[in-house]
Amino acid sequence: MTKSGQLWGGRFTEKPDQTFAEFNDSFRFDRRLFAADVRASIAHANSLARAGVVTADEATTITAGLVELLSAADSGTAIFDGSDAEDVHSFIEGTLIAAIGDAGRKLHTGRSRNDQVATAFRLWLRDEIDKIDDLIYQAQAALVGLAERHSTAILPGYTHLQRAQPVMFAHWCLAYFEMLKRDRGRLADARKRVNILPLGSGALAGTGFPVDRDAVAEELGFDGVTANSLDGVSDRDFAVEFTSACSLIMVHLSRLAEDLIIYCSSEFGFVSLSDAVSSGSSLMPQKKNPDALELLRGKAGRVFGHQMGLLAMIKGLPLAYNKDMQEDKEAVFDTADTVNISLRAAAIVLDNTAVNEERTRDAATAGYLNATELADYLVKKGVPFRTAHETVGRAVLYAIDRGLELHELGPDELRQFSDAIADDVSEALDLRATLAAKGTIGGTSPGRVAEALAAARLYLER
Ligand code: ARG
Repeated sequence: MTKSGQLWGGRFTEKPDQTFAEFNDSFRFDRRLFAADVRASIAHANSLARAGVVTADEATTITAGLVELLSAADSGTAIFDGSDAEDVHSFIEGTLIAAIGDAGRKLHTGRSRNDQVATAFRLWLRDEIDKIDDLIYQAQAALVGLAERHSTAILPGYTHLQRAQPVMFAHWCLAYFEMLKRDRGRLADARKRVNILPLGSGALAGTGFPVDRDAVAEELGFDGVTANSLDGVSDRDFAVEFTSACSLIMVHLSRLAEDLIIYCSSEFGFVSLSDAVSSGSSLMPQKKNPDALELLRGKAGRVFGHQMGLLAMIKGLPLAYNKDMQEDKEAVFDTADTVNISLRAAAIVLDNTAVNEERTRDAATAGYLNATELADYLVKKGVPFRTAHETVGRAVLYAIDRGLELHELGPDELRQFSDAIADDVSEALDLRATLAAKGTIGGTSPGRVAEALAAARLYLER
């Protein structure tokens, strides 16, 4: 007895070993390509008709049968259940033949599963990329929304996780907005190379039937056709590029998550997450944990793993198709799923984040975040920067000894460090002035940030 839809029975006299079949078969996971493979098969049937390889009637019978399969799959998994098909391609062909008979036996003319799987995979991935792009957009909208809800909030900025200089909270939000903007650019760029049609490459050498590959590409919405059949069936660069773009998305989400995990600790108390996106402890009644953020941070690892797995799988493969390549599916499926849910989780967490503005302002006012401002003040009075740096360093040491901030010292006390210090120093050390001074493009002055926020809003509306 052969497996249902088995495509290669003729040469074989023995049935497959059970363990081998379990090892070899991909239907349990590649059924996700079902709709994409049916779409590509419809285009192939039309192409065979145009080439005169099947009659118009046969093509109509085949496409109607395939459309029937699509709607059967739409109404549930019943058509898949219990199938022992090797993979989604043999499943579709076998089920079609069982439904429509001999016309179905002509569908595989002029194609191989090698160009077929590459085509279905690219079609599927193109749709996933579009979904992910939209979810990145939603996460950007959540960042902009958070920034707008706290448009005047001030945050201590950090380097080395030590208080450095004050920034607008919206500036922090927009930093992540920029990262996500680049992510969209990277995905859009990867999409260009995903969206090329390999069908027509045959098993490796092309096909002897006069199919019009450009017409198939057009029918399926591909931007072009692959230029070399050996490359067409064995190229998985597009999968690596996708996981690579996704790895960076996860890097960004994990950094965002880590910032917020720190900020919502009681030690910082800068932000709070609403109950809707927090979890409790099974033991400690007082706990409210940022599990969602920790998962955003943690899930980055599996996406990086998939990228490395793909690279290692492809490395050193001889041309053209090798069964190793079947391993690409689960890596890419899980990458897409992980990035998809992570982006949705990030957006919902941001929607449920509130800033404790008093606390962040207080934190931005303590810890000598205006020391650089004092040095800049001295420079504006004609002191060379390196001298000013040293002078302010001594002033900070003096202030630390007394348990005071620089702005609590007052002009007279500060003057002992430099004659250049005048009464207007108090104004220069004020938090608002410190922020206002950072007015270069990309700086954190309230004016610049308001501009950037308005530009981000405009970007979202376009
Ligand atoms: N399931 C296979 C894959 O995912 C389809 C291609 C199989 N081709 C072959 N000649 N064995 O790669």
